[in-house]
Amino acid sequence: MLILALESSCDETAASVSRDGREILSNVVYSQIDMHALYGGVVPEIASRKHAEKITAVAAEAVRQAGIEWSDLDAVAATCAPGLIGALLVGANFAKACSLMLNVPFIPVHHIRGHIAAGYVAFPQLEPPFTALVASGGHTVIIDVEDYTKMTVLGTTRDDAAGEAFDKIGRVLSLPYPGGAALDKLAQTGNKDRYKLPRASVNGHPFDFSFSGLKTAAVNLAHNAKQKGEEIDPNDLAAAVAHAVADSVVPRVVAAAKEMGRKKITAAGGVAANSILRAKLTALCEKEGIELYLPPLSLCGDNGAMIACQAYYEYMAGNTSDSSQNCYANMAVSDQLCGR
Ligand code: KG4
Ligand code: ZN
Repeated sequence: MLILALESSCDETAASVSRDGREILSNVVYSQIDMHALYGGVVPEIASRKHAEKITAVAAEAVRQAGIEWSDLDAVAATCAPGLIGALLVGANFAKACSLMLNVPFIPVHHIRGHIAAGYVAFPQLEPPFTALVASGGHTVIIDVEDYTKMTVLGTTRDDAAGEAFDKIGRVLSLPYPGGAALDKLAQTGNKDRYKLPRASVNGHPFDFSFSGLKTAAVNLAHNAKQKGEEIDPNDLAAAVAHAVADSVVPRVVAAAKEMGRKKITAAGGVAANSILRAKLTALCEKEGIELYLPPLSLCGDNGAMIACQAYYEYMAGNTSDSSQNCYANMAVSDQLCGR
């Protein structure tokens, strides 16, 4: 079964063709990040307009690179929630128009379910049940994946996402937006113990996160140093931040897996590209005898392949829709998109 999937929930215009879910025939990503970097963050209006400009060319390129004809497609999919609403509507409307023209089903896909499916693309042997961490610029969430389309949120952030904290701290260090990857690089040669940063927990909710205190503490450190005319060491601060995030995330994901009796863990989303988080998660999973499935960096950030893969499992579960399908800025990963 051949599926063309569109992803336009934030600042990447992406398209991919999958065969029977996990075989990715093409994966085209147009990043708008240079445009948004000028403003220090994603500007929703600019994102929607850029998606509208690029979506046709990106989709056509995905079909061309897959070596197929448009008429070979069995279904068309798009991310319909959660995300920037204007941005989502561009990809979803394009995909719905394609499905009408080709007379094939339209499959709406939840963005977080897509991130989880990056694990299926990277590891042919990976099957539910397992525990998933999705950590990105907009989400930090631990999910019990009982089956391909059946999942429960075990823990989530109460305030900022982990990526948001990385990006705001990156900004005070004058790093270009988004700062996560640059902070990761700086952290490699930093002393993690020079600056003390908090690891927050939420009373009575062992799998929930809070990153706003960490963000404020790091930003204040930098501002106070500046006011005193002192230099903050960017490498040391980056290392302190990366370790604080990893220390907040890693034990919780492993504890959640153990609580659910799961023997496998996956991690995805842009923050799952973080080298310190990956190293700590690898070490703890090894210690606890849990199999860890970490997709390559190219599949951690937003891409079309993860949506094209998840779309197949949604189709198999009967989750297809039509041109009346709407998009939603917020939606729980456990909820069904079709029929809303
Ligand atoms: O999944 P993603 O590409 O887009 C969203 O759905 O948000 O994630 C982007 C986020 C940004 O906050 C970025 O700074 C962060 O992922 N990020 C990283 C790294 N690479 C990207 N954070 C920490 N370490 C990295 N290596
Ligand atoms: Zn994402």
